[in-house]
Amino acid sequence: MKNIAIGITAAVSSAAMPSFIMHLRKELDCRITVMVSKNATRFVTPFALKIYSGNEVFTDTYDLGDNLLVPHIKLTQDADLTVIMPASSNILAKAAHGISDDLISTAIVAAASPVLFVPSMNERMWFNPIVQANVAKLKAYGYHVLEPEKGKAVGGEDVYGAMASLKSVIHLLGQFLE
Ligand SMILES: Cc1cc2nc3c(=O)[nH]c(=O)nc-3n(C[C@H](O)[C@H](O)[C@H](O)COP(=O)(O)O)c2cc1C
Repeated sequence: MKNIAIGITAAVSSAAMPSFIMHLRKELDCRITVMVSKNATRFVTPFALKIYSGNEVFTDTYDLGDNLLVPHIKLTQDADLTVIMPASSNILAKAAHGISDDLISTAIVAAASPVLFVPSMNERMWFNPIVQANVAKLKAYGYHVLEPEKGKAVGGEDVYGAMASLKSVIHLLGQFLE
C-alpha cells in the first residue's frame, strides 16, 4: 500500500479536506498521514482529520507524538508522495524560498518524495505576479503544481482559483502512485 503525506494549509477549501481524504483513501487504496498548519485548524479540526484519515494528525514541528523523534523527517521519509493541499499563497511563498518555520514548510524542505502543490485561493491572489513568480520558481525547482480551476467563491460568485476538483486530484495522484 502506498503512503501519501498531505499538508493542509489555511485556504478556505481546507474545510473540505475530511471528505476529500475519505474519497482518496477509497479510490487510491493508500495510507494517508496528515499534517495541518496551525492556521488551517481554524477551518478544519485535527479531530475530524484523524477520523477520516484513520491516522495520527500532526500540527507542530516539536510534537514528537508517541515515537516520532524527528517528525518532519520521519513523516516524509515514509511517503511515496507529499501533497500540499490546499496550498495557501503563504506556503507557496515559503516553499519557493526554502523557509522552514513550521511543520509543513520544514517537511517540504526535508521531503524525499515528489512534492505536489494544489493551490487554492481567490483569483486576485492567484494572479498576483508575486504568487505567479513563486509558482514558476517551485516548478523550476522540480516541484509539481496542480493549478486551480474555476469554481465558486465563499460568497457564491464564479471565480478562478478554486482548488482542483476531486476528480482531477485523484487522476493525478493515481499517476504519481503507479
Ligand atoms: C476566511 C478566510 C479565508 C481564506 N482563504 C484563503 C484561501 O483560500 N487561500 C489562501 O491562500 N489564503 C486564504 N486565507 C489567508 C490564509 O489563511 C493566511 O494567509 C494564513 O496566514 C495562511 O497560513 P498557512 O499557510 O500557515 O496555513 C484566508 C483567510 C481567511 C480569514
